[in-house]
Amino acid sequence: MTTPIIIDCDPGQDDAVAVLTALGSPELDVLAITAVHGNVPLARTAPNARALVEFAGRPEVPVHAGCDRPLRRPAIHAVRIHGESGLRGFEPPPARRPVEAAHAAEFIVETLKASEDVVLAALGPLTNLASAFTWAPEVAKRVKQIVLMGGGRGVGNVTPVAEFNIYVDPEAADIVFRAGAPIVMIGLDTTWQALATPPRLAAWRKKGGKAGQAAAAMYDNPARFDAKRYGEEGLPLHDPCVIAYLLRPDLFDGRHCHVAVETGSPLTLGQTVVDWWGTTGQAANATVLSRVDADGYFRLLTERLARLG
Ligand code: RIB
Ligand code: CA
Repeated sequence: MTTPIIIDCDPGQDDAVAVLTALGSPELDVLAITAVHGNVPLARTAPNARALVEFAGRPEVPVHAGCDRPLRRPAIHAVRIHGESGLRGFEPPPARRPVEAAHAAEFIVETLKASEDVVLAALGPLTNLASAFTWAPEVAKRVKQIVLMGGGRGVGNVTPVAEFNIYVDPEAADIVFRAGAPIVMIGLDTTWQALATPPRLAAWRKKGGKAGQAAAAMYDNPARFDAKRYGEEGLPLHDPCVIAYLLRPDLFDGRHCHVAVETGSPLTLGQTVVDWWGTTGQAANATVLSRVDADGYFRLLTERLARLG
């Protein structure tokens, strides 16, 4: 049995490792990649997604371009981290095939109308998903599951309490968390446990095939290592946690709880307010993960990346 998934992403270095991992995993039927603004502008994330599927030897996987800015705010990018190209350190051959004509939100709506088995893997700002759920609210309850990288419990990487994917488009995140679809939220407090340390980079180079080489090239950036923040040398590998959860949920722990998104306060804009101890009595709307077996995670990534040759 394969799991049909749509990967909504803003490649972006970690998005790229996530997409390659998914394409190396036969358990997943990647119906399409939908690109969204985020780490770099849509004008880069969409062609990057095309280049990734072709690098992976999967040119038949369609890529749909989506929203090029947040629902109501100016776009914010992370070029300082991901580079102008969005894939700093990795230069895949340029794509030969164009992106599809249909907008990402339209593809998501039409796919969900046709099936109730589809998982949405959300790796960037949630603008495409929110646009789809606003356009056709009835499809939100047809989603099998949304597994998203975003938010965190009391931590942030843009502000002290807000994570990039949520902070960039908090209104979109608010729509998604209220939409009624089953959600698994993988926040920074979990992904910061998954560091691409030097031994793990070496394993990617030695045993990860061409995709492992590409991943190591993107993450071998000692100038950005921050052992004080993360506890040891290495950069966190956020987005592939979403794919790893779909493949091996046993590598993770978490609990059902209510999550709300701050969309008004200038101080805490974009915070995911996670009711971890059930103090509000509000019904849980997400499974919030809190731990990952980092060694098992990187072994899984290395093994799947290697399958791409
Ligand atoms: O905060 C980390 C998240 O923001 C990751 O998805 C990264 O790719 C960026 O989109
Ligand atoms: Ca991302």
